[in-house]
Amino acid sequence: MNKEQTFTIFGGTGDLTFRKLIPALYNMAAAGNEQLNGRIVVIGRRDYTSESYRKLAGEWVEKFARLTYREEIYDKLAERIVYYRMDFTDEDEYRGLDAFYTEIGARAHIFYFAVAPRFFGTIVQGLKSVHGAGSGKVVIEKPFGENLLAAEELNVRMEAFFGPDHIYRIDHYLGKEMVRNIQTIRFANPIFSNIWDAGHIECIQISALEEVGVETRGGYYDHSGALKDMMQNHLFQILTIVAMERPEGPGVEEMHREQMKVLKALCMPEAAAGSMVLGQYGGYRKEQAVDENSATETYAALRLFVENDRWGGMPFYIRTGKKLRKREMQVAVVFKSPVPGVPQNILNIKIQPTEGVYLQFNIKRPGEADEIIQAKMDFCQSCSYINQMNTPEAYERLLGACIRGERSWFSQWDQIETSWKYVDAIREQYVSGSLPVYSYEPGTAGPKEADEMLRQHGHAWFD
Ligand code: BG6
Repeated sequence: MNKEQTFTIFGGTGDLTFRKLIPALYNMAAAGNEQLNGRIVVIGRRDYTSESYRKLAGEWVEKFARLTYREEIYDKLAERIVYYRMDFTDEDEYRGLDAFYTEIGARAHIFYFAVAPRFFGTIVQGLKSVHGAGSGKVVIEKPFGENLLAAEELNVRMEAFFGPDHIYRIDHYLGKEMVRNIQTIRFANPIFSNIWDAGHIECIQISALEEVGVETRGGYYDHSGALKDMMQNHLFQILTIVAMERPEGPGVEEMHREQMKVLKALCMPEAAAGSMVLGQYGGYRKEQAVDENSATETYAALRLFVENDRWGGMPFYIRTGKKLRKREMQVAVVFKSPVPGVPQNILNIKIQPTEGVYLQFNIKRPGEADEIIQAKMDFCQSCSYINQMNTPEAYERLLGACIRGERSWFSQWDQIETSWKYVDAIREQYVSGSLPVYSYEPGTAGPKEADEMLRQHGHAWFD
């Protein structure tokens, strides 16, 4: 980032900014990342001064930054942070923002929309009063739009203002180390790549479980729910990387092409009841800014099929939920038993909190007996301090990519469009079938109906 480049965050007092963005900026500074030396303008409605904001943000950095907090590093970063108070939903206030930019000599803009998608259009409208804004870049958070129609309208507006090549649709799961590792584990190991198909695999389970609830984000989340907040983007990205054919080249464009083919081959669950379970944690309706009669799902589990030569007939189970008994994101590949009664081989790609690979296979019990027992190999990549230090977090990686103008590690419009079509259709099926949203106790594994869904098909979640 050169001196004149200005990085502006809309939603500067929100959870995402404090928890992820500012700590990522700190990590980049601490790692000596020279690209980031421009001004950081943080926009919020609350009554902070730049000084009080910097102090508060510093406390979050201390808690959430990957690299050890060092005052001298934070102070240097903080000098570049300016808090600008405005109501970003009020178009008139953008003239003031324009004047402020002139005053600080801001020119090459990167805007980060860390706000709910219903505000994106308003901000774009407001930025029309800001000189030079249209030639800047914009990073937007998911979900992009609230359904396919809204997403299409928004896309047209954003592309008209910023131009298609200046839009960075962030899916931070694409920046996670182990998500990027899936391709290597698959394609660089013949022991896996040669048997990566429905002929050898019984099912694949992708789980993104969280211990936290909606915290301070009830207002956003209650309009979104697990299907739109996690499935439509993060989990579909991972599913398509796991299921795609080997890309023709090393570039991410080639990978996108293959991912798109998988998305297009996704089949609608046949009967919603047997292929989809939604849940809501007890106490959710009492969360701040949540409707007291809300039917929003905080848990979703789906049984999906990818109808192509490789995967025809093999189920993918994907699930995500909040307020569960543990935080865990993983891809478990359950291979078919060679003969009935012999335990299955399982490959588990651990994405977080531990990063690593676990493999379960069969051996003979040592000694006289001829019994088969399971051997469990557990490779922990993140247990090494050096690996921890050298592995940038998703937001660091993706912010860096945006600054360098590398759009390839961001979601592309055609992916978003296709996954919306799918998610809209399954929601519709769910609503028209008036299927229940089951209640589950916080701190448990989620609704028992999700376990039942697998049991019906002779499977169980790999935990
Ligand atoms: C965000 C969702 O995209 O991802 C949140 O909006 C969720 O609801 C978060 O908590 C999970 O991210 P991570 O990196 O902690 O797995």
